[in-house]
Amino acid sequence: KERSFIMIKPDGVQRSLIADIIKRFEQKGYKLIGIKVLVPAKQLAEAHYEEHAQRPFFQKLVSFLSSGAVVAMVWEGQEVIKFSRNMIGATNPLASAPGTIRGDFGVDFGHNVIHGSDSLTSAEREIALWFKSEELAQYDLTMQAWTYE
Ligand code: GTP
Ligand code: MG
Repeated sequence: KERSFIMIKPDGVQRSLIADIIKRFEQKGYKLIGIKVLVPAKQLAEAHYEEHAQRPFFQKLVSFLSSGAVVAMVWEGQEVIKFSRNMIGATNPLASAPGTIRGDFGVDFGHNVIHGSDSLTSAEREIALWFKSEELAQYDLTMQAWTYE
């Protein structure tokens, strides 16, 4: 099954949204296989957002991500990369629909609560950047017999 890297950003942690966000992924039927809390070093934040290195907001983005604790996670499930982006909602706060995480919890471009990988290539790169393979748990969720046909 597919895996995605999902991260609650420093604003989401400070605003006590950890449980609410995890609950949405759990209830959807995805399997949590990696989770940790850390304050990302600037170098890690830069590596995470390297595709945006030339954008004018890059420094602001990186210093925000390393400004506090984040919850880094790996979730597994069918089409989890694409569907978790739907659950997260659009980057532009004016376009993130009610019912999505950003639509329900965020109001600003920069403080948008959560990150999710945008493609299989990004997911693989980001998971390897944030987690060692031994930090990812391999196990069966018995409920998944009722989640998947
Ligand atoms: P992430 O899940 O954090 O990667 O967001 P995203 O995939 O929805 O958007 P993208 O990767 O394009 O941009 C990364 C982050 O940069 C976003 O979450 C925003 O916080 C910020 N960002 C993107 N575009 C802009 C912009 O035009 N202006 C500003 N100020 N910030 C932006
Ligand atoms: Mg992105």
